[in-house]
Amino acid sequence: MVTIRSKREIAKIRESSGIVYQILDFLEDKIVPGVTGKEIDSLAEEHIRSQGAEPAFKGYLGYPSTICFSKNEKVVHGIPDGRTLDDGDIVSIDCGAIKDGYYGDSAKTYTVGSSIGEDVQKLLDVTERSLYVGIEQAKSGNHVSDIGYKIQEYVESFGFSIVRELVGHGIGTQLHEDPQIPNYGDAGQGVELKAGMCLAIEPMVNLGGKEVYTEQDGWTICTRDGKPSAHFEHTIVVGEEGGRILSNGFFDD
Ligand code: MF3
Ligand code: CO
Repeated sequence: MVTIRSKREIAKIRESSGIVYQILDFLEDKIVPGVTGKEIDSLAEEHIRSQGAEPAFKGYLGYPSTICFSKNEKVVHGIPDGRTLDDGDIVSIDCGAIKDGYYGDSAKTYTVGSSIGEDVQKLLDVTERSLYVGIEQAKSGNHVSDIGYKIQEYVESFGFSIVRELVGHGIGTQLHEDPQIPNYGDAGQGVELKAGMCLAIEPMVNLGGKEVYTEQDGWTICTRDGKPSAHFEHTIVVGEEGGRILSNGFFDD
């Protein structure tokens, strides 16, 4: 069942999403060579708790951390550990918060240091732009698959590939609600979108092939060919003209 949220509920989802936005923004200059995932995880947890919220991922199906920290060939769900980042790495950080019973969820891929390959920088730019292409489609009267259709078309036009195994999702009083939002597929399928539906749209894009596998820890998703992968995610609300982003730090309409 897909829920249409009231203004009051959307404000709550915006508040939790705003807390996540603040963290991802604050981390921008903390993601440097030598820092560890565990250090970044602690900063994120402290910030969430200081805002009267709680980490949404910690304890979710047994997940151990506040953030997902997925470096280079790791696609998503990497568990932060004591290993350091190096110049030239990229790292995707995904974070969720819950406050007053409502969730926010957002992710972005950061570059580490200054020696990022041109192809990898392009991967990041295209993945971020593909998220905005998807958000544009999140308008009343469209169908849920119109989002993924446009994302896929955009990403593949640059020769990159879309991960199939993981999808975006409805969000609200649960972290994962209906509908599922694949980042690929045909247009015009699935639930009809209506203003007030809250969605987390999250394209995962690989530099090489689309195939992925899960590591021994049961969480970390990696590209099969070992090439880098990027991930950008926003929590949005479906509008008449397109999606409105709730995880961008704006607290007014
Ligand atoms: N943004 C991811 C998602 O929506 C993060 C989930 S991590 C988990 O699935 F640990 F909570 F599963
Ligand atoms: Co999500």
